[in-house]
Amino acid sequence: MKRLVLAALVLVACDASSDETDLAYPAALRDINPDPGIVEVMITASQTAEELRPGTLTAMWGYRDGSIHGSRATVPGPMLEARQGDLVIVHFKNELPEPTTVHWHGIRLDAMFDGVPGAQTTVPREGEFEYRFVAQDAGLFWFHPHLRSEVQIEHGLYAPLVVHADDGIEVDQERVFILDDVKLDGDGQLARTTTSIDMMMGRMGNVLLVNGRSDHELQIGPHARERWRFVNAANGRFFNLVLPGHVFTVIGWDGGLLEQPYRTESLLIAPGERYEVLVTLDGTLGARIPLQTIHYDRGHELPDDGPRDLLHVTIAPEIARGLVDPPVDMRIIEPIATDEHTRVRRFVLSEDQSEDRDPVFFINGEQWPNITPTYASLGTTEIWEIENRAIMDHPFHLHGAFFQLLSRDDEPEPRTAWKDTVLVPQRSTVRFAVQLNAPGTWMYHCHILEHAERGMMGHLIVVEGDVPAVEFPGDSIGPGSGGPHGGH
Ligand code: C2O
Ligand code: CU
Ligand code: CU
Repeated sequence: MKRLVLAALVLVACDASSDETDLAYPAALRDINPDPGIVEVMITASQTAEELRPGTLTAMWGYRDGSIHGSRATVPGPMLEARQGDLVIVHFKNELPEPTTVHWHGIRLDAMFDGVPGAQTTVPREGEFEYRFVAQDAGLFWFHPHLRSEVQIEHGLYAPLVVHADDGIEVDQERVFILDDVKLDGDGQLARTTTSIDMMMGRMGNVLLVNGRSDHELQIGPHARERWRFVNAANGRFFNLVLPGHVFTVIGWDGGLLEQPYRTESLLIAPGERYEVLVTLDGTLGARIPLQTIHYDRGHELPDDGPRDLLHVTIAPEIARGLVDPPVDMRIIEPIATDEHTRVRRFVLSEDQSEDRDPVFFINGEQWPNITPTYASLGTTEIWEIENRAIMDHPFHLHGAFFQLLSRDDEPEPRTAWKDTVLVPQRSTVRFAVQLNAPGTWMYHCHILEHAERGMMGHLIVVEGDVPAVEFPGDSIGPGSGGPHGGH
């Protein structure tokens, strides 16, 4: 039976154009609505197959453009593009063998369309759901399931969502790169077993993918300035990017442009995070430069497996416009006002990795789904203090709002900028300010998917008027090391 299914997938995959290697801007979904202010698309989740290793097709799941008859699902799925202010309508259909949802990571929307179980019923096999939101913020977002996410996203269900604006950033070329890795068994299929290391670190793959492939060859003219937008869609891998001989000029984070750019030689991207950079290619004609990920110590003494090449850029005889001046003031972001009366809420992240059982993860000593929801009243500002007591890093993600970083340990954050996912390094504390302007139930969780699904996830319920009298568990977790489930 299994063999038959695979054979069918091979046929589907063969008529696809898998020969383009410069697929650095994923194909976009077709807008079926002629109204210039509305983007209306059809997205279908389906089974598919991808050639991740030369000569072998790996059975995957992906999104396809449901408006094109017989279109093939791809990994990543087709990109959703909108302009700031557009109304986005998505007709979603599930052709997978199990229920799913679509979560619009980073998009501020009505809680009923956030794609988390509870806010909507899950979309059953052969079921449909219509999502609607206004693209309020410009930037790079992404969509993915929020159900069995460590399995469904690992299978390939993720795609970029770009909200464009006239932001004055001039470049020769813009590219979108979705970073991922997959763990393949010897026969080229997704690993069937989950080890306790997979659970502990988030499953790390043996094949690294940029937009679904590991062999991209880009041809770029000398001195061309490009805008590269990155999202890390991996279950657990951290990407620490370098382009040897070059620096990245970082212009944007999760919530769009920064006020001013800054330069860095390496760019760390934790699962769920997005970064936008400018690069100006430099090199002699014909030089071939790898984009690499290098080692980063994310805890648990994970061995250095880098540097590893993600794609290659060859300096080609193409004409660049010679854009030299980097942008200076890109945007003004008002800092969220806080004072000594602002409620400070503490969230303590911890793990239990006792030898005799699979690792489990906690927020304030509680393990999803057996958690006390966090109640807050609509319109208030809070300071969230995320203390990581584990000996590994956890990227903390909040739905429904962007926040502004205040400090990392005792270092004040130098930039006023918007994020929805922040890396909380091992044994450290990150503080951010957030305005709770959207009513409803919102999730917060570690974006290492195995951690979220194994307990490190919670519910924020933003209510109008007074909050119910529920004890907030973070209040009873004292400072210092240990705690009910302190790190080891
Ligand atoms: Cu990328 Cu809760 O999501
Ligand atoms: Cu999200
Ligand atoms: Cu985690």
